[in-house]
Amino acid sequence: MTSATARVPAKINLCLGVGPVRDDGFHALATVYQALDVHDEVRAVVADDSDEITVSVHIEADRLVESIDVPTDDDNLAVRAAKLLRDTTGVDGGVRLAIRKVIPVAGGMAGGSADAAAALVACNEVWGTGLGRQELEELASTLGSDVPFLLHGGNAIGGGRGEVISPVLARGSYFWVVAVASQGLPTREVFAEFDRLNEGIDVPDPVVPDDLLAALRAGDAVELGATLSNDLTDAALSLRPELRGTLDLGLQADALGAVVSGSGPTCLFLAGDEAHSLDIAMALAGAGVCADVIQARGPVAGARLI
Ligand code: C5P
Repeated sequence: MTSATARVPAKINLCLGVGPVRDDGFHALATVYQALDVHDEVRAVVADDSDEITVSVHIEADRLVESIDVPTDDDNLAVRAAKLLRDTTGVDGGVRLAIRKVIPVAGGMAGGSADAAAALVACNEVWGTGLGRQELEELASTLGSDVPFLLHGGNAIGGGRGEVISPVLARGSYFWVVAVASQGLPTREVFAEFDRLNEGIDVPDPVVPDDLLAALRAGDAVELGATLSNDLTDAALSLRPELRGTLDLGLQADALGAVVSGSGPTCLFLAGDEAHSLDIAMALAGAGVCADVIQARGPVAGARLI
């Protein structure tokens, strides 16, 4: 096997509870993740002639996004994933990674983390390192808070700083409309703004709301829409006030719920069915408030070979 390709979904947070800053500088999180069918692909080709790990990035979506550049050096999380796998297993040799990006860059949907998860899966295949899911999840947790969930997929509760994944009882398949902003927003800036807005306030430990878990157990989209929540909303709106108008537009189009995705600036709208999803997408696209509008479904599987 000299080449392999892994496909990986984007993530959204149905709720995102943010707690105090921990000793390691990260915030305690209590979240419910859902994987959406907006996929990146990472192809790994063994480099016989070199022990270098390189990456090329092809941005697939034709969006009017002034995207924050995806790094093509060691700062790229997929490169770090491949290096970590090589160092951990002691395998020799290099690999060429090629990323086909559809997940919005710096959009609050964990695109960089998704590529790291896919790189782990693809490199594990081409190098024949044979790590199991559990071992890959352990490596993933050292790469970033969202990486273990992107291996896992489906729906899951995220604790710790987001990397501790546990199962959640859920049924139903949901229709989402994803409004991609014209400019990305780095996660760390949004958390820093959260800290600034909460200065002097005793931030409580985060919890996953019971009514959200009940909605997921019942597979009830109306209830789920009413219980979507995100503690980073004020911070994201403080940095990007125009997002308020985007959220309002979706609600005016009768979305069942509207929420900022993760650290933003992508906004999410829950629809009742495909036709409703198209109505919301048309309303957003027609108003010209965002760079792109994507109709998506969730939950879907995590990073897999294709
Ligand atoms: O874990 P990840 O590398 O994706 O996080 C990116 C940045 O987001 C961190 O460097 C940190 O500033 C912030 N973050 C945080 N608390 C978390 C997750 C992320 O403060 N639980």
